[in-house]
Amino acid sequence: MEYSNQFLTGDASVVLKQLPNESVDLTVTSPPYDLMRQYKGEVDGKKIFKGGYSFPFEEIADELYRVTKEGGVVMWNVADQVIDGGESGTSFRMALYFQSIGFLIYDTMLYGKNSPNFPEMGRYGQVFEYCFILSKGKPKTFNQIRDKKNKWAGHSNFGKPSSRQADGSLKQHESFTVADYGARYNIWYIANGKGYTTKDEIAYQHPALMPEELAEGMILSWTKPGDIVLDPMSGGGTTAKMAYINNRNYIGIDLQDEYNDIAKERIKLATPYTEDNPNPLDKYIITREELMEKRRQTREANKKKKAEQNG
Ligand SMILES: C[S@@+](CC[C@H](N)C(=O)[O-])C[C@H]1O[C@@H](n2cnc3c(N)ncnc32)[C@H](O)[C@@H]1O
Repeated sequence: MEYSNQFLTGDASVVLKQLPNESVDLTVTSPPYDLMRQYKGEVDGKKIFKGGYSFPFEEIADELYRVTKEGGVVMWNVADQVIDGGESGTSFRMALYFQSIGFLIYDTMLYGKNSPNFPEMGRYGQVFEYCFILSKGKPKTFNQIRDKKNKWAGHSNFGKPSSRQADGSLKQHESFTVADYGARYNIWYIANGKGYTTKDEIAYQHPALMPEELAEGMILSWTKPGDIVLDPMSGGGTTAKMAYINNRNYIGIDLQDEYNDIAKERIKLATPYTEDNPNPLDKYIITREELMEKRRQTREANKKKKAEQNG
């Protein structure tokens, strides 16, 4: 694609119009959160808000729908601010807008942080952000990351596990030994802050970075090598860098040239993984197709075993 592996400067609602229909496999982005209060509806004296957002949200969302391939995904990472005593609700409003234009809210994932940004007096510490997984139909790619250490690894279940059937009877299943690792759940706890978010010193010239681990997990989950990964509010270029090192193509868009310059520097410093130097996460990844095949084989083996037992 013409804009592959480039950083473009400008308002995403305008720049996105240059991208062809259905050309992007995955968007991983984190827009400015709830700046309504600080900017009071204006930036540099110009009214750029629409419906209370600090950027032209609806226009960008509409463009994202147009450029996303059938089966493509948008990962929209947002959080609410507390305004006048209550959460703004912006995150929900955005998710519902995406749904109204045709995206599935495929999953509401959470990114959990190690600690709140500041201590709370009248409520519990805020330690998560939303990661809405918005898909154009059923996601065409899903690679499950199975790096969650199982507490009961190596143990077998006692007796035979069973499940209740519609008629109330109990159906017995084969017993099994708990594997060392299982699939992640949809809350990802990721350490954030200087030194954790990224090791790239230069990146911290951008004030609001996404942790590399979050962008990378999303890219590995929803794309294949060679796919196109977009960030229309790319900031310090975290999405682009993680796409690049994982052998995907990237497109970054940001209002500010200086942020794109940081992103370009990070790409220069980065080295893509190779067969000889693979991503350490690779060994924990199983594609949806492999997973289904594995399930099919287990079912077949169990059926065969049962038939043998019954003579
Ligand atoms: C939260 S930061 C993104 C950080 C990025 N995920 C990273 O890890 O570096 C949001 C970015 O959106 C950019 N931005 C805000 N409004 C925009 C618009 N209308 N079009 C393009 N970029 C915009 C800001 O300049 C800022 O860099």
